[in-house]
Amino acid sequence: MYVCLCKGVTDNQIKDAIAGGACSMRDLRNDLDVGTQCGKCARDCKSLLNESLTAQACAGMAAGQFVAA
Ligand code: FES
Repeated sequence: MYVCLCKGVTDNQIKDAIAGGACSMRDLRNDLDVGTQCGKCARDCKSLLNESLTAQACAGMAAGQFVAA
């Protein structure tokens, strides 16, 4: 599904970028150009980012990869 219509970016592309190390809206903007035109997609991108990072953190904790700072 398209999240950013201006740049033609899908939710899977955003998830792939997050899996590849993107961990902020700045990273997503730099990697995919999302939110750089009209900005209407920013809220959805941020939601995807938060959901994906939470899922990754939970998976990491379940696998014993969590290291407290
Ligand atoms: S929909 Fe993403 S910048 Fe317009």
